Amino acid sequence: MAPSKALISLALFGITTARQCSNLTIPVTISSRQGQFREVPVEDNLDVGAFATRFNQFQKNYTADLLEAYQTLDGTYQISAQYCMPDGGSNGIVQLLSHGIGFDKTYWDLSYNNYNYSYVNVALAAGYSTLAIDRLGIGNSSHGDPFNEIQAQAEVEALNSVTLQLRKGEIQEIGCSYDRVIHVGHSFGSVQSYWLSALYPENTDGVILTGFSLASQFLAYIVAGWNLQSARLNQPLRFGNASNDVVRTLTKKSNLDDNLIRSLQQILGGLGIDLTPQEVWNEVATTEVLDLINGYNTSVISYDYPAGYLASSNLIALQYAFLQPGNYDIGLAVQGEKSKQPVTTGELLTIGNAPSSSPFTGPVLVITGEHDVPFCGGNCYGQVSGTNYSNIPENVAMAFPSAAAFTSYIQPNTGHGINFHYNATAAYQVIQDFLASHDLSAH
Ligand SMILES: *[C@@H]1O[C@H](CO)[C@@H](O)[C@H](O)[C@H]1NC(C)=O
Ligand SMILES: *[C@@H]1O[C@H](CO)[C@@H](O)[C@H](O)[C@H]1NC(C)=O
Ligand SMILES: *[C@@H]1O[C@H](CO)[C@@H](O)[C@H](O)[C@H]1NC(C)=O
Ligand SMILES: *[C@@H]1O[C@H](CO)[C@@H](O)[C@H](O)[C@H]1NC(C)=O
Ligand SMILES: *[C@@H]1O[C@H](CO)[C@@H](O)[C@H](O)[C@H]1NC(C)=O
Ligand SMILES: *[C@@H]1O[C@H](CO)[C@@H](O)[C@H](O)[C@H]1NC(C)=O
Ligand SMILES: *[C@@H]1O[C@H](CO)[C@@H](O)[C@H](O)[C@H]1NC(C)=O
Ligand SMILES: *[C@@H]1O[C@H](CO)[C@@H](O)[C@H](O)[C@H]1NC(C)=O
Repeated sequence: MAPSKALISLALFGITTARQCSNLTIPVTISSRQGQFREVPVEDNLDVGAFATRFNQFQKNYTADLLEAYQTLDGTYQISAQYCMPDGGSNGIVQLLSHGIGFDKTYWDLSYNNYNYSYVNVALAAGYSTLAIDRLGIGNSSHGDPFNEIQAQAEVEALNSVTLQLRKGEIQEIGCSYDRVIHVGHSFGSVQSYWLSALYPENTDGVILTGFSLASQFLAYIVAGWNLQSARLNQPLRFGNASNDVVRTLTKKSNLDDNLIRSLQQILGGLGIDLTPQEVWNEVATTEVLDLINGYNTSVISYDYPAGYLASSNLIALQYAFLQPGNYDIGLAVQGEKSKQPVTTGELLTIGNAPSSSPFTGPVLVITGEHDVPFCGGNCYGQVSGTNYSNIPENVAMAFPSAAAFTSYIQPNTGHGINFHYNATAAYQVIQDFLASHDLSAH
């Protein structure tokens, strides 16, 4: 195995935890019974705004409005994944990591500050192998029709296929089988991990749901707060068809970031407004300008997402949906904005269709940030009317009547994107400790 950049940088910074990681592509063949939707215009940003407006209408069900029939989607797709093994090799137990909306597999292995926020590193140190996937439709996994192909159910089937291949030792690059597979999700990845446990309870040994609850009324908060745009228009160079893009011609110039900041500084200085490069950078980083120029560097992979792939508009939207102000590093947030990923119309229309309970009989942990917006409306200690649970994550117990153990945990001083907060590694430890105390230790 060729040493990864990660290995090299870890070595340079003198961190002793060695790790063996590789990128791979896993073919999955799925059959998914799912919706056939009437496609509405989503070409430009006003179309996309209109989609979000209709989706959010009080006491209306846009999914039902657009649903024409049910279909069975059959297909073979590629799932892009990062596989890591602990230093001493596999212990026969793996955590299968599914990211949420707005992110990709790198959510679990953020390279910022020398991998100080890496969930993968904490899991490896506890003896687990990890397999982090790009969900079907997103990132480096196969893309597809955003209405009628890339829906939640299809992604659950893809996750199940990866699970079975792990168990049977069928993934060539991995070269061993795993008796025990723990499903760890974040947000929409938690919805899918939960969904898998409901449809295929025998295929999972433990369910960890981060950034999750059963409260659905707050989805509208982020669908509004994201200020969704067409991904290919929001970051044309990175998300669009860069091969023929006008923006590429305009920005094909080295050090565009630096030049832009210097030019803006000079223009403003000419007007008697004296700002430091840092102050100008703050302006640039919090407007769509950051998104517009993001990806000019040819080293950045171009995803060529079709219309119907929607992206949150800018760093402020990212903060609203995922971050608790004051409790995260702005530099990491900028990285998050630069590497963000889209959501499909079909995903939004089907995100609420998971079975209402799971017959899973193993251990379940829900861990959600205290100030999570999409799943707690910004306050997980709030009360959901009609339930007698003392907080919102605890309510998830209702969906797991047969679980051997159910624990809900509220991570303090943290928003929805747990991994982006200062105290992230302490939350990771809560998860490893839960597993160790429920017969899922890696040692
Ligand atoms: C794997 O992909 C990541 C990006 O997801 C990249 O940073 C890394 O260099 C790749 N590693 C290898 C071994 O190719
Ligand atoms: C909305 O409609 C879809 C399709 O008919 C249905 O599956 C879903 O349960 C409905 N959602 C709500 C909240 O009623
Ligand atoms: C990583 O975090 C620790 C504290 O958790 C801190 O002492 C250390 O300086 C950080 N390292 C980097 C490279 O940011
Ligand atoms: C994306 O997938 C291709 C093969 O399909 C692979 O060569 C490349 O390394 C992958 N990149 C990442 C970031 O996973
Ligand atoms: C992207 O541009 C290339 C070259 O102009 C063209 O062949 C291709 O069809 C375009 N793809 C999309 C999705 O527009
Ligand atoms: C552009 O790419 C080069 C080479 O990978 C890198 O050194 C530089 O920091 C990148 N610039 C930006 C603004 O990302
Ligand atoms: C909620 O009330 C029901 C019925 O009154 C009871 O069975 C259940 O244990 C209660 N749950 C909690 C968490 O108190
Ligand atoms: C950090 O997280 C741990 C684990 O949840 C928690 O015990 C601790 O209070 C947190 N610290 C802060 C400052 O939020």
